Amino acid sequence: MAGAKEKKAEPLKLGIIGSGLAVKWLHWPALKKLNDKYRVVVCCDIDPKAAQEVARLAESDLNSPGCRVSTDYREVLAADDVEAVLLSLPIHLTSQFILDAVRAGKHVIAEKPLAANLEQGRELVDTLRGFTDTKVVIAENYHYRNDFAKVKEWMAAGRIGQPFLIQMVSRFWTETSSGFSSTPWRQDNQYRGGIFADAGVHQAAALRELGGEVEQLQAFTKSVHPVMGGLDTVVLNLRFRSGAVGSLVFAGAAKDQAGGMVMTDILGSGGAIHLTRGKAVLTEGNGKEARVVEEYNDPDHDGGYVGEFENFYRAIRENAPVVASVEEALKDWEIIMRALDSAESRSVVLL
Ligand SMILES: NC(=O)c1ccc[n+]([C@@H]2O[C@H](COP(=O)([O-])OP(=O)(O)OC[C@H]3O[C@@H](n4cnc5c(N)ncnc54)[C@H](O)[C@@H]3O)[C@@H](O)[C@H]2O)c1
Repeated sequence: MAGAKEKKAEPLKLGIIGSGLAVKWLHWPALKKLNDKYRVVVCCDIDPKAAQEVARLAESDLNSPGCRVSTDYREVLAADDVEAVLLSLPIHLTSQFILDAVRAGKHVIAEKPLAANLEQGRELVDTLRGFTDTKVVIAENYHYRNDFAKVKEWMAAGRIGQPFLIQMVSRFWTETSSGFSSTPWRQDNQYRGGIFADAGVHQAAALRELGGEVEQLQAFTKSVHPVMGGLDTVVLNLRFRSGAVGSLVFAGAAKDQAGGMVMTDILGSGGAIHLTRGKAVLTEGNGKEARVVEEYNDPDHDGGYVGEFENFYRAIRENAPVVASVEEALKDWEIIMRALDSAESRSVVLL
């Protein structure tokens, strides 16, 4: 048996449940960078070809010879050699699979959002309080972004004075013939909120990272996309507990030159921060007088995927605190779900 010290450095024995696009395109580059920390024991998917493909990748990239293939997730949960599972499933399955996995004694890293609606999310968080021996990370990569950490450091040091406004814009076209939105479960919209819920939950996490907790919100929504079910266009106004105000303009059916634009401006009493993917610019003064005081370019900008898998490993092996806990993920999800309530009820919602 491995001693405590050896166990501490041992790679985690992972089972992958749901071997689709996010695993291949987003998790894989991160896991490859952490190949001293992860071994894949089994890959599961109801589509055996998908599981097979990821199992072969695991053999070559993650030093995981003999990685098994399964089409039944219960087989993965019953396997003694699986310590932890990565759940990357259609959104409507996630919360039930998290529960099944912790009941089987497995640590879990599960893709965002944690549930298909707010009630399900709350129930999940309540039930998980009874399972203290298993670690659960919700893979909300925005909670692990280095550029956000730098911006928070500037704000905490008073570099822009008192922050009073956060303006976030996320504008992109949702392609349905290839890529993430070609998946039938997204087009059928078996969870509340459509593209806004699936993609906008990242912006909710970003708003909370940068502005802290939200106390009031009001939203106006539209459904514009010709193929995708549910909502894709949202204007969301917010008041943070800090007293700052904010807005998120989310357009998932935007056909414009900017294509794929995500940007954030934070205004403070003494300056401003402009943030795009991996790059933050701190300025003082306004108009012609404005000058750049400091610039930050994240040399490893990957959106936070390496950070989430690193945190999961350290939570299990070193008892490090989980950053994107289910409680944090529920607060992100609450912003999205309550925004839908606000739009439906035509009212301001208090959180
Ligand atoms: N963090 C991010 O940036 C990001 C980006 C894209 C997707 N995601 C999330 O990742 C998750 C998966 O999305 P995706 O784009 O990879 O979808 P996908 O459809 O490509 O992958 C899901 C896989 O789950 C499989 N599956 C369905 N039911 C199953 C079952 N009962 N047992 C085993 N496998 C089953 C499907 O066959 C499919 O291969 C979603 O939660 C999504 O929100 C996150």
